[in-house]
Amino acid sequence: MTQPENQTPSTTRLPEGKMPVLRMMPAPSDANVYGDVFGGWIMAQVDVAGSLPAVRRANGRVATIAVNSFLFKNPVFVGDLLSFYADIVKVGNTSITVYVEVYAERNRLQTNVVKVTEATLTYVATGADRKPRQLPPLEALIAE
Ligand SMILES: CC(C)(COP(=O)(O)OP(=O)(O)OC[C@H]1O[C@@H](n2cnc3c(N)ncnc32)[C@H](O)[C@@H]1OP(=O)(O)O)[C@@H](O)C(=O)NCCC(=O)NCCS
Repeated sequence: MTQPENQTPSTTRLPEGKMPVLRMMPAPSDANVYGDVFGGWIMAQVDVAGSLPAVRRANGRVATIAVNSFLFKNPVFVGDLLSFYADIVKVGNTSITVYVEVYAERNRLQTNVVKVTEATLTYVATGADRKPRQLPPLEALIAE
C-alpha cells in the first residue's frame, strides 16, 4: 500500500492489552555526540522497569544479580516516547527473572512505533542484611 508523501510508514504497534510499567522520554543530555541515546541510559531504565514487578513479587527489596541478555535492536532518539513492558518469566527460591521489551513512538502524530530493545534480567530478593531472602509464597501475596 502506498503511504501519503508526508507520512513515515508505521512499523509495529504497542502490545495490545498490556500496560507499560514505565514511560520515559530521553532528553538531549541522554544522547551521545551523534545525537543517539546512550545504551547505558537505556540499560538503566530497563533495570528500573524490570525491578518493578520483581519488587512486587518479592514483597520488598531486590538486587539485580544478572543481565542475562540485552539486545539493542533499533536506535533510540532524543524525543522518542519510550514504553517499557516487563513480565516475570521465572521464579526460583530467591530469584525472579524478568523479560523487558521497549518500544519507541518516534512520531506520535504519525503513530510510528518501533521495538528498540529487549532484555532479560534476574533479581534476587534481599533482606535488610543485603543477603538473599526466600521469596514469599504467591498465595501469601494474594491474601494480603
Ligand atoms: C544479589 C546478592 C545478594 C545475591 O547473593 P549471592 O550469594 O551471590 O546469591 P546466590 O549465589 O545465593 O544466588 C541467589 C539466586 O541468584 C541466582 N543466580 C546466581 N547467579 C546468577 C546468574 N549469573 N544468573 C542468574 N541467576 C543467578 C541463583 O540461582 C539463586 O537463585 P534461586 O535462589 O532462585 O535458586 C549478591 O550477589 C549481591 O549483593 N550482588 C550485587 C547486587 C548489586 O549491587 N546489583 C546492582 C548492580 S551493581
